[in-house]
Formats: sequence, C-alpha cells, structure tokens
Amino acid sequence: MFFVSSPGTSRNPRTKLYRSQPVKTSLFNFDALFGWLREAGHSAWVDELQQSCHQATDVTGHGNLEGWKQCWHNLPAIEGHFEARADGRVAIVGQVSADVKNQLRSDLLNFRPWRKGPFDLFGTHIDTEWRSDWKWNRLSDHVELRDRNVLDVGCGNGYFGWHMLAAGARRVVGLDPFLLFVMQHEVIRKLLGAELPNDVLPLGDDCLPERLHAFDVTVSMGVLYHRTSPVEHLQALYGSLKRDGQLVLETLVIDAAGEQVLMPDGRYAKMRNVWFIPSVDMLKKWLRRTGFHEVKVVDVTATTTSEQRSTDWMTFESLSDFLASGDCSRTIEGYPAPVRAMLTARRK
Ligand SMILES: C[S@@+](CC[C@H](N)C(=O)[O-])C[C@H]1O[C@@H](n2cnc3c(N)ncnc32)[C@H](O)[C@@H]1O
Repeated sequence: MFFVSSPGTSRNPRTKLYRSQPVKTSLFNFDALFGWLREAGHSAWVDELQQSCHQATDVTGHGNLEGWKQCWHNLPAIEGHFEARADGRVAIVGQVSADVKNQLRSDLLNFRPWRKGPFDLFGTHIDTEWRSDWKWNRLSDHVELRDRNVLDVGCGNGYFGWHMLAAGARRVVGLDPFLLFVMQHEVIRKLLGAELPNDVLPLGDDCLPERLHAFDVTVSMGVLYHRTSPVEHLQALYGSLKRDGQLVLETLVIDAAGEQVLMPDGRYAKMRNVWFIPSVDMLKKWLRRTGFHEVKVVDVTATTTSEQRSTDWMTFESLSDFLASGDCSRTIEGYPAPVRAMLTARRK
C-alpha cells in the first residue's frame, strides 16, 4: 500500500511515496522510532527516553489526560491517506459519511485549543490559531530535507513534521512537553491508515544528551525565548546534530542595531515565560559562541493578526489582545511587538 502526497507548489515541488507500516492501534507507541534509534546506535538514549515517556504520560500526573485518552479511543474507526497540500493544509483524505464527518468534527473539538496548523481531516478544516503554513513557506526553501533525519524541538502537534516528510525527510522526531499537543498528533496518527515516520515524544529539550550527534537537521522554532538559559538550549541543539548538520532556528527578536537583548520585567505579550529576546546580531553571536558556523538570517518578519488569531478551534485570546490598543507596534506591556527571525547555521 502506498500513500502519495500532493504535488505541492511550484516553488517547492514534492511528490512522495510512503510504504505503510502496521496501523497504529495504541497510544504513545514509539516502538518504530525506538527500534530505528537502537539500530542507529543510540540504545542508551532509547532506554532513557522510554522511561521519560512513561513518566510523562502517566495519567496520575495529569488532570486532563484520562479525558483526552477516552476521546482518542472514541474516535470513529476511519482511516485515510496523508496529503501535504499546496495551500498549507496537512490533510487526511478518505470517504466518510456525513454522520461520521459530524462525529469526527465534534471529537476533534475536544482537543482544543488547536494552535498550529491548518489541517483538513476528512473534509473538516481545522483553522488553527496560527497560519503555521506561512512559517513553513519562510523555512522550506532554506533547509535541506531530502533523505535527512530531522529533530524538531518544541514541535507542537507535529504540523511541520508532515510538511518535512512530504519534502523528502526520511524521519522526523518531534519533542514537545505539552501533552495536549502530543495528543493532537496521536489523533492524526490514529486517523492515518499507516504508520509514518513523524513522531512526537512528550518530552522537552532536556531529554537530549550532551553529545548525541544523531540528526542531519535540527529545528527549533518558537522555543528559545521560553528558555531561561538560551545558550544552553543552543548547546543542546548543537549536540543533537551530526558533523556538518544543519540548524534551523526561529525566535523572537528585537529590531535593534548591534548586539542587544531585551529581558522583559514580567510578561511579554501577556506571556509569563518569555526570558530573552535578542537583536539579530546578538542571536548570531550566541550561535557563533556555541560553535555554529555559516550563520545565515533567512527571514525577519513581524507577526500580524492575520498570522496569529482566535478561531473556532482556538477560542482564547490571541495576538490582537496582546498588543497595545491603537498601536500594533507595541505589546500591551509597552515592549516592541513580536518580530520573528529565522536563521540557519551549521555544526562544525
Ligand atoms: C511557540 S510554540 C512553537 C511551536 C512550533 N515550533 C512553531 O514554531 O509553531 C513553543 C513550543 O515549545 C514547547 N516547549 C516549551 N518548552 C520546551 C522545551 N523545554 N523543550 C521543547 N519544547 C518546549 C511548547 O510546548 C510549545 O509547543
């Protein structure tokens, strides 16, 4: 059985065939990934990962997990095939009745808020808070993915991993400690009629050993400013890469000349967990000091309320509520409004 992704845009043509593995029937089953890692010589890491994943998915440690697991088990027994569409939607395509479609829509709403996407699951458009496809378009021309093994640190629900697979990546390993996003990925995997090599482990960057040297490409987008020690985060990314491996780093920056950094007094755009927002020059310096070379800035874009907004699938406050009223150049706290830079670099 084969699964074929859609042809993609002319900018990024892609067609890929996937040979199916046995259908995924149980939650948090990372056997295929762990087997692959063991074969690649990372057995000691797999032993640690197995234990950490077990702890992270222990229902007693999480108030909502039991409910989400029930919803996952109650999903309709349908399977479709995967398409990464040129309009940015990650789709699962298959014939279902109107009743099943309605049931699926209400099941999917149980996994709100859906922040990263968009998805189209059997005709239900999940209009997520973020137009993550815009970020994918900024990234896709600057990363070499064909036959590469990719680590995506802070991958959310794994949205980018599907695009990476369609662009030719051999395997994508996502890490995200937030269990709702891991569950959203599990939902998508259950609806797929195949086990595809895009995993999301319920873990953070602290699961990365110092000198793993396992991946051709490591991606970290929207994570650096959440870390109290940004350089330690960069060191963890560096250690994850093979020699000459490529880093993709995306983070908030301040539009300031020279090497500067903003540390908010308290919240930034209502977020409690924003620690360091460097200027682009400072970010380049952090990368060089960590040991990266060939540091390139491939994009700098101000985030707009068209890219990040409330929808039926994310009904909480969004960017327009985080900006000063009448001045979209400032956050509600008076800091410069969000601008994000995307950089690439290489491990020596
Ligand atoms: C702003 S979102 C970015 C998601 C996605 N990478 C993107 O660019 O759209 C940050 C993500 O990082 C995750 N995260 C937070 N701390 C992390 C850590 N220590 N290691 C890995 N991921 C982390 C969060 O759960 C969240 O999904």
